[in-house]
Amino acid sequence: MNNEEMKAEIGRLKKEKNAIILAHNYQIADVQDIADFTGDSLELARRASQISEPVIIFCGVYFMAETAAILNPDKRVLIPDTQAGCPLADFATVKQVREWKKVYPDHVFVAYVNTHADTKAEIDICCTSGNAEKVINSIDSDKIVFLPDKHLGDYIRRKTGKPLVLWEGYCVVHHKADIDSIIEAKKANPGALVMAHPECPRNILDIADEVCSTGQMFGAVERHPETKKFIVVTECGMLHALAKRFPDREFIEPMKPLRCANMKKITLSKVLDSLRYDQYEVKIDPVTAEKARKSIVKMLEIK
Ligand code: 13P
Ligand code: SF4
Repeated sequence: MNNEEMKAEIGRLKKEKNAIILAHNYQIADVQDIADFTGDSLELARRASQISEPVIIFCGVYFMAETAAILNPDKRVLIPDTQAGCPLADFATVKQVREWKKVYPDHVFVAYVNTHADTKAEIDICCTSGNAEKVINSIDSDKIVFLPDKHLGDYIRRKTGKPLVLWEGYCVVHHKADIDSIIEAKKANPGALVMAHPECPRNILDIADEVCSTGQMFGAVERHPETKKFIVVTECGMLHALAKRFPDREFIEPMKPLRCANMKKITLSKVLDSLRYDQYEVKIDPVTAEKARKSIVKMLEIK
């Protein structure tokens, strides 16, 4: 089957099975194009909490599909490739979090959603890059441990002025953002505005005009109607998402583009197989899921 035939078959099976397809902004273009909803981690979690269809095909990395499953215990959540993991989530194992809780017994533990379900079950509240500042400001204490992304944590520490205790984790993709290639892109495109994801190291965020979650990048473009060119310092899938929404603007990758191999593991043929064979169901132990749900719901309650 070619791509168009696969897309048509996905559309047919989706109706037959009464399924909805959710996709992260970093998915390959073809997968973004067949999705019913695309968004950042926060938007996907919010959308996942309001779904009526009995089957959710989640195109993203595993922790995102887990979040959808935790919020929908009575639905079937399928991920087309179970190997689509997030190395950032692997930085904070549940065992390590339990040890840290002994070291910081009077601290509030805030975990980025890029964590495994059992880690979420151990902490007090989740956040995403889109709401981290609000979540930290909602906490009535300065004693906070933030895990696992040290770059996002450092950025939020500066934004809120709260002395967060940071974990030694980072996104292997954004951590490699290369300052010289951004400066090169700026020189080659005078007047272009730099948008960077807060998982990038501080030296990159310091030269960015806008620091945003992937979802917030759309708002940043809207806030700059006079700007025609944007240098996008995040995973390359975001360029398709932006170009689709703003066909009159130009979105430029730094010379050394950022690519998340895990996000790219989801393909049209795997989505098709997922619908055909009901694979692969995301299953979480109910006790862990219930505890993790509390930290996710607490986050979603913060508007
Ligand atoms: P967003 O919530 O900004 O989409 O980020 C998710 C992610 O995995 C970034 O690497
Ligand atoms: Fe995880 Fe980084 Fe990939 Fe996002 S870009 S899914 S944080 S490895």
